[in-house]
This record gives sequence, structure tokens and C-alpha cells, in this order.
Amino acid sequence: MSLSFSAHPHGVKTVIVPAAGMGTRFLPATKTVPKELLPVVDTPGIELIAEEAAALGVSRMAVVVAPNKQEVLGHFGQFPELVETLTQRGKLEQVSKVQRAGQLMTPVAVEQDKPLGLGHAVGLAEEVLDDDEDVVAVMLPDDLVLPVGVLEKMAQVRAELGGSVLCAFNVSPEEVFNYGVFDIQEISADVDLPAESVKRVVGMVEKPEASEAPSTLVAAGRYLLDRAIFDALRRITPGKGGELQLTDAIELMIKEGHPVHIVIHEGKRHDLGNPAGYIPACVDFGLSHPVYGPALRKSITDILAEHDALAAASEQG
Ligand code: G1P
Repeated sequence: MSLSFSAHPHGVKTVIVPAAGMGTRFLPATKTVPKELLPVVDTPGIELIAEEAAALGVSRMAVVVAPNKQEVLGHFGQFPELVETLTQRGKLEQVSKVQRAGQLMTPVAVEQDKPLGLGHAVGLAEEVLDDDEDVVAVMLPDDLVLPVGVLEKMAQVRAELGGSVLCAFNVSPEEVFNYGVFDIQEISADVDLPAESVKRVVGMVEKPEASEAPSTLVAAGRYLLDRAIFDALRRITPGKGGELQLTDAIELMIKEGHPVHIVIHEGKRHDLGNPAGYIPACVDFGLSHPVYGPALRKSITDILAEHDALAAASEQG
């Protein structure tokens, strides 16, 4: 399906969302439920991603899935019977909750037969793009970047400086080995962008040892990539972990003179990819929730007091 540009204020029509992982860190839940459908309070992570992409003006979500694993796309369906039943019962708030995902995004499945890496997954999605799309967003659904809005800042940087723009976070040196890490330079003083948060990328390395890392600025799951990325992805060879790495394709583009910049995000980030990050995300969203927030705060306070008392008792005994 071809999409017109008029509805895409930043010129970004498509977001690629790699979702072909097995979700091993969430077993046994992920035997039947893809991790992208696990709820943060009541909303699956993939819908939060869709909401963020829609705010940028994106309308097509290319979801990269393993063969016969299209449940994630099902979430963006229409559910006419459910809507009818809820409507008959006067449950209009619930009707809008059911319809919301489908109104945000048109999903398209891209099948990844083998888990050959993030770079491979992103490369496969080129087939769904229209000929006139010269930029594409990539959002990793494990990463919640808050408050929402960094994609718009990234689009402004691309409008000003061209090329590709990524979102960066500052982490401690002990954490860099989990991420793609940026080697950066200051941007030139005559551009009208905040120099403290926008940097030029002169190199990028996937999951280096702390001693080898060029900085503590790391990629945080939000990319605005020039279409040239697909050509670079066809030319890389397996890298870290024996996988085709998106980082290596970006590094290749940089070496060939393609402009790459980062926007350093000062907000917070939740990692929905494992229980240790998913649980705090639920607590964070839960505490902010108008209905559940106040009671949850009390419950957490009570649970903490109980655990502290047990710990104190076991220390004494
Ligand atoms: C991926 C990327 C990495 C990036 C990270 C952000 O790694 O390969 O460059 O920093 O996402 O979450 P993964 O977490 O999938 O291993």
C-alpha cells in the first residue's frame, strides 16, 4: 500500500519495529504471548511504541516477526464483535481502548526466517517502503524513552544537518558493554541547534569492553535512518555475537562520509526486554495512573515496610 506524504509532517512514513525475538527472559509467559504484548499497566509495550511513532507523524509500522508469529500485528486489528458488545453495554471508554491501536498505525508484517541479528531484521523491511521514502524510523520495542518527543527533536536535526540521527543516553562506564557506543565530535558553532545535546558521530561500535569504548554515550533504540542504510546493511559481515549488526552498517556509512548525529536524551528510559526493567516500568506507569496510582503508592509503601521488617528480623535472629 502506498502512503501519501501530506500526512507525514517530518517526511517519515514508516517505522520499523524488530519483534522477532523469542523473549527467553520472560519465559514461561512468552510461550504463547510475545513479549511486545505484555502490558505496562494495561497497555502492551507495542502500543506505547505505536503512540510515540504516531506523534512523529508515522503511519505505517513494519513489524519484523518470526515466521507464523503475527500475534503482535493482531493487536492493531479492528475487533468488530468486541466493539459491538462493549457498545451495546454502554462501555464507551473501553471501546476507545480497543480501537486505539488500529487508529494509530497500519501494521505490515515482515518475516525474518532466521535470527541473524538486528541489522538483518531492519534490512528485510526495505521491501515495504514506497519508492519516495528516503528516511525511515527504527524503534526497538524493548526501549521506552520518556518523556516522548525525542523523535521530533531527531527529525529537526535531520532537517538541519541531513543524514541520519540517533538517540543517545549517557550511561556509566560499567554499562557500555550492553550497547552500541558513539565516538563523537562537537557540531560546528554556526548551526542553530543546542550544542550540548546534539553531537556529530565519527564512529560507532557495538557492545565494546569498557576499556575499548570511545565514550559513555550509547544508542537507545530510536533511529532516524537515511535510506542509504539498506545499501550499507547489504555490505556488512557478521559482527558482535556473529550477528549482522545495525551498528556496523551505521559505522560503515560514517566511514563513507554519510552525516550521522545524535540527540542526547536527558529523560528516562525503561528496558522492557527483561523483568528487571519491565517491573520498574510498570511501577512507574502505575504510580502515574489516575485510577491505580494512589492505591499503588500505598501498596508499595506497605510492601517495602514488610520487606524491611523481615530483613531486620532476620539480621537480629
Ligand atoms: C540493540 C543494539 C544496540 C543498542 C541497544 C539499545 O542491542 O544492537 O546498539 O544500544 O539495542 O537498547 P540489544 O539490546 O538488542 O542487544
